[in-house]
Amino acid sequence: MIILGLESSCDETAAAVLKTDGRSFTLLANIVSSQIAIHKKYGGVVPEVAARNHIKNIIPVIDECLAAAKIKPQKIDRLAVTVGPGLITSLMVGAETAKNLAYAWHKPICGINHMRAHLYANWLENPKLKFPAVCLIVSGGHTELILLKNQKSLKKIGQTVDDAAGEAFDKVAQLLNLGYPGGPVVSKWALNGNPKAFNFARPMLHSKDYNFSFSGLKTSVLYTVKKLPSLKANSAKLKADICASFQQAVVDVLVHKTIKAALDFNAQTVMLSGGVAANQLLRDTCKLKAESSRLNFNMPQIKNCTDNGAMIAAAGYFAQPIPWQKLRVDPNLSI
Ligand code: KG4
Ligand code: ZN
Repeated sequence: MIILGLESSCDETAAAVLKTDGRSFTLLANIVSSQIAIHKKYGGVVPEVAARNHIKNIIPVIDECLAAAKIKPQKIDRLAVTVGPGLITSLMVGAETAKNLAYAWHKPICGINHMRAHLYANWLENPKLKFPAVCLIVSGGHTELILLKNQKSLKKIGQTVDDAAGEAFDKVAQLLNLGYPGGPVVSKWALNGNPKAFNFARPMLHSKDYNFSFSGLKTSVLYTVKKLPSLKANSAKLKADICASFQQAVVDVLVHKTIKAALDFNAQTVMLSGGVAANQLLRDTCKLKAESSRLNFNMPQIKNCTDNGAMIAAAGYFAQPIPWQKLRVDPNLSI
């Protein structure tokens, strides 16, 4: 089966062509057009600017993707497009484009949940995962733990009660004037810092549930910054130490809760996904802890952790096609 996946829920316009029979997942093309440079000057994504740029980019991105995959529309078996959660105007650009293509090309279409797609990015790496499995999904807007009984049975067992992990990275970067998006820039600064320099709070580390909380951690970074007059003089060493200590606190909580959930639910496999799963410390620590607990470990390549069309196409394999007339976006869709 050949699937064209389209993604436009936030600030990336993306398309991918995936060939799969369920046993192997081969990407024929994977094109992402990022708007980071455009939104950087605003310190975050401006929804109307994002939607306008999706309109400008989506057809060229699809054309480039089909050309790179050397595929004519006739060869595509199904379309898959993100329908939520995300920014409504951005979602509508992808969904309306996909509907028009489904109509013009006479193809079935699948509406894809963006968070499920992050999880299914794991199949691009390894389609022979062992179940039950626990997947940590960490993105800019969500932090969720999902229990999978099999490929299609997904149950949310935990989530953040306030900020998402990615949001915390973005806010800390803002506090330290490091730019946007926060995750990549904080982790780069952290490379030169001491993760033990500040003992930041690790909220809910030992709570009995599988929930997370990151707003207290962000506040404790804020108070630290306010108390340090030298930061105003832009001390690079201090900034690096704050980034390293903050990153360590986030990773400690994420990994502890994920491994605990996997052991409690007798899972065979631990998986990572979402934009924050691009974080090298999280990737290395989770792999190490999972394997030392005798659990299998899987994660997508870094470029398939942040938003992309490949994960949408992978999720499209597991989704039910619907007539294009029935496709609706839902900015608040939950997993
Ligand atoms: O999944 P994603 O690309 O978009 C959403 O669905 O939200 O995730 C974006 C989030 C942002 O908060 C960004 O700061 C974070 O992922 N992120 C990272 C890294 N790369 C991206 N966080 C920590 N370390 C990274 N290397
Ligand atoms: Zn995402």
